This record gives sequence, structure tokens and C-alpha cells, in this order.
Amino acid sequence: MSNETKIITKGFLFVLEGIDGSGKTCACKDLVKRLQDDGYDVVHLREPTKESQWGKEIRAKSPVGELTPEEELELYTRDREWHIANRIQPALEEGKVVLMDRYFFASGAYQSTVLDLHWKEILRRNREGISAPEPDIVFILDVPAEIGLERATGRTGKANLQFEKLDRLIKVRQNYLEMVENDSATFELIDAKNSLDQVVDEIYDIITDTIILNT
Ligand code: TYD
Repeated sequence: MSNETKIITKGFLFVLEGIDGSGKTCACKDLVKRLQDDGYDVVHLREPTKESQWGKEIRAKSPVGELTPEEELELYTRDREWHIANRIQPALEEGKVVLMDRYFFASGAYQSTVLDLHWKEILRRNREGISAPEPDIVFILDVPAEIGLERATGRTGKANLQFEKLDRLIKVRQNYLEMVENDSATFELIDAKNSLDQVVDEIYDIITDTIILNT
């Protein structure tokens, strides 16, 4: 561990994705702390945002079922467009390490389960429609749906209940696994049945190796 600020010449974008209860939010927080302790200039972002009018609308209405699937997809996309312009792109241009808790892969994995749209089409709309920057690595924290559901429902009223149903989570997980096989992004599949410390160690090593090799 060092307190010296590390200067890197380009920004990096790392994304953590996974079903509800996969542990990505806890893993993200631990990773941000470890990377900051190492002297990296880290920006921690999450979607949906708490900042844009669209993110706020999702957070208020989605958990109580007040949005149609179409409205939800539209709001996630508008929120992301705001996020890219105001937070993601500026941080990358300043050469920061951006660590995201969910990104457009979540729209593909989740919204395709309630809309007549394939995840490939949702990803395409994010890439072509709002020019979403491509991450350096997308980490998929993989757990069986039963484990995710157990962990998520053990928490107090946090997660989106609409999606905390087993059949939905099974499909969401399958979508993420299909992306790892078929999408053009760079993925790392992480076994998130392991302890949080193991998961964080594994991701930390991959992130730091990637930064060192590319600067
Ligand atoms: P999550 O990160 O699981 O929040 P928390 O840790 O507070 O439970 O995300 C909340 C929900 O948002 C989750 O059920 C997935 C959903 N979501 C989508 O359906 N599409 C998206 O594009 C994004 C970013 C999130």
C-alpha cells in the first residue's frame, strides 16, 4: 500500500455487473478503497444515477411498479446519456480510473426479460444511439439465481423487488452468460459464490495488471 498518487496517462473504465445479490455493490466499494489506498485517482459511479432527473424517476417509480417496461428502458437510456456526458466521459478525459456499479449491460440483461427485444439489440442501441464508451473490462459476478435471491432478500428493502423473482433472475443470469460468449466487449467471468474477499482480490489483480500493462 502506498500513499503516493499514481499518474496514469489515460483513463480506464471498469464495470461490475451481475444479478441482484451477486455482491457487486460491496465488491465495488472495497475495490474503490483499495485502489485509492494504492494512490489511483478513482471515480466510483453507479447506475441508475441518483443525480439526473431520469435516474431519480427510476428510483422513485420502478420499485413500486409505476413504470411500463418501455418507459423503464427509455429512462435508463436517458439517465445513461446524462451520465456519460456529465460524469463518465469527463473522468476518462482527465485520466481517472472509473469503476462502475452497472452500465448498459444491465439494460441488456434485465430489460430484455420484460420486453420483446433481444439483449443484443439493447446493447446496440446503447453503443450506436448514445455512443456509450466501451469499458476496458466488464466483470460479470456470477452466482446461481437461487443464491442471488437468497442474498438479496436477506437485505432490507434495497433491491428492486420486481426483479427479485427467481425465474426473472435465472433469465438475467443467462443473458449475462450469453454476453460473455457472444458480445464484443472484453469480459471477465468471476465466480461470485466465493467470499467477498476472494472476489475483490481476483478483480483487483486484473484491474491493476490492466492499468500497469496499458500505461
Ligand atoms: P442494483 O445495483 O442491484 O441496486 P441495489 O444494490 O441498490 O440493489 O440495481 C437496482 C436495479 O436496477 C436492479 O434490479 C437492476 C436494475 N437495472 C436495470 O434493470 N437496468 C439497468 O440498465 C440498470 C442500470 C439497472
